[in-house]
Amino acid sequence: MRVIILGSAAGGGLPQWNCGCSNCQEARLSGTGRTQSSVALSADGARWVLLNASPDLRAQVASRPELWPRGARGTAISAVVCTDGEIDHTLGLLLLREAATRFPLYASAGVVALLDGEWPVLRVLSAYAGVEPRVLPEGEAITLGDGVGRELGIACTAVSVARRPPRYARQATAATYDVALRLADQRTGATLAYVPSAGAVDDGVQSVARGADLLLFDGTFWSNDELRAAGAGAATPTAREMGHLPVGGRGGSLELLPRLGAKRTMLVHINNTNPILSRASRERAQVEGAGIEVAEDGMEVEL
Ligand code: MLT
Ligand code: MN
Ligand code: ZN
Repeated sequence: MRVIILGSAAGGGLPQWNCGCSNCQEARLSGTGRTQSSVALSADGARWVLLNASPDLRAQVASRPELWPRGARGTAISAVVCTDGEIDHTLGLLLLREAATRFPLYASAGVVALLDGEWPVLRVLSAYAGVEPRVLPEGEAITLGDGVGRELGIACTAVSVARRPPRYARQATAATYDVALRLADQRTGATLAYVPSAGAVDDGVQSVARGADLLLFDGTFWSNDELRAAGAGAATPTAREMGHLPVGGRGGSLELLPRLGAKRTMLVHINNTNPILSRASRERAQVEGAGIEVAEDGMEVEL
């Protein structure tokens, strides 16, 4: 199974348009940015599944020959799986509107409802080729398939994670929104655990991560008050209020991830304010000292 990190940044990307933090300034000056959170996955190297559809999807697809069109019109992207209904993980769906046929979108029941309601992506896209929403059952493995029902050789299990509904979801009810994914190659058994947003390392996260060949985990913030400290304003929620477990500090993910039993662990969905982005930082050394990697755009892993 092949895994490509298309984008390793959290919402806003690096640099973020209105952020003057040292990481964003450094990225502007050196031309080394990061695009927003997305992963491409394939069991056969020909048909690809996008895990989340980022606002940077167009540039991400252009940068990877694996995702280029086949023939005069067509795509190597067979399906999309969204782990949540956040703007940074769903806006890219609109950028797929030129598709010639309806494409399958796997998401939790709560996220499908949001995309048909307060963030009406499915309704907007219905005027184009359209999207076929497929609800991910909770805690049950399903085989991912393309738009015409051919199996993609990947089993996907979704487990709900500790989060809160997206900010725009003012009428959100008590449904499952954000999920952690366990994705297994049905031929080789290779397994990816994909958890780009999580407020805790709880039983659900443990169940998807156990024995995984690769765990990609929420690296949004180093500390709980990071956004406020970066000048985002006193009304800005903390990392924990946003449903992102900080990496550093007591009870942070750095303490917990090494105990999960994944063979390799990388942080993804990294916010531009996070000090781990600076290679020379003390925080980066702590992450690497714990045997955890900081994902980069364009990284590829064969499982
Ligand atoms: C998140 O991951 O918490 C959201 O994407 C934040 C946002 O609204 O950008
Ligand atoms: Mn996000
Ligand atoms: Zn910044």
